[in-house]
Amino acid sequence: MELIYGEGYLSAGGDEEVSRIFAGIQVQNKEILDVGCGLGGTAVALAKTHNAGKVHGIDIDESVLDRARKLVERESAGNKVSLSLVEPGEFQFTENSFDIVHLTAVACHFVNLDPLFREILRVLKPGGVIVGRDWFKLVENEEFQIWDRLLRDKGLNFHFITARRFQRIIIDNGFDNVEMTDRSLDMAELAQEAVSSVDLELKEPLISVLGEDGYEECRRWTKVRARALNNGGIGQFRFIGYKPVG
Ligand SMILES: C[S@@+](CC[C@H](N)C(=O)[O-])C[C@H]1O[C@@H](n2cnc3c(N)ncnc32)[C@H](O)[C@@H]1O
Repeated sequence: MELIYGEGYLSAGGDEEVSRIFAGIQVQNKEILDVGCGLGGTAVALAKTHNAGKVHGIDIDESVLDRARKLVERESAGNKVSLSLVEPGEFQFTENSFDIVHLTAVACHFVNLDPLFREILRVLKPGGVIVGRDWFKLVENEEFQIWDRLLRDKGLNFHFITARRFQRIIIDNGFDNVEMTDRSLDMAELAQEAVSSVDLELKEPLISVLGEDGYEECRRWTKVRARALNNGGIGQFRFIGYKPVG
């Protein structure tokens, strides 16, 4: 995944996408929680490029956290970035701890989003921001179904809902001024570029990591994802909302 998405990322767009997601948000000197921090790319970018005060990354997967820790060390970001392994469920933070909670490509793994958003609201300071982006079902067309089935066949737990439903759930859990911005066209373009890279310059590196069969599987997966994005089956939205002040 990192070969396709760039060092530190398990989602497309890399550091540039972090800048887009955080555009208009005051990050400097802020305390940020990165839920599902994965390989640590976002946490490091926030600390180093956007001058966040502190970034705390949490994830349920020790193997990705291990690689995130190495990235933090390589980037000498340990003074600002801390990482911890967590169990799914309640966060081990007291209420009103963070100015910003970020989550990208994480909410789509939750069957029930209410407890997640309730916890995020609890740990945010009044006026604090929830921000991120995620995958959504646009139309349940053939391309969507093929992509959805592929993920299930791989044993991956994705639960796609519509962006409108997601927005409703965030609002119902107490957030104000919740906005959704469609990023699907850019993501479709990135997915198409990924198809070409996997066919050409990434072919040898991927074969050396995944073997021939793994490479063919990755190629198929990349193509199916691009087709679902380009045919309006799945999409990605940025979301932002605020914990009420009063
Ligand atoms: C698709 S990856 C995205 C990682 C990172 N946000 C990025 O954009 O590169 C999803 C991550 O969420 C983590 N995750 C899934 N469920 C979680 C939960 N309940 N709490 C924290 N992390 C979770 C996974 O282990 C994985 O690292």
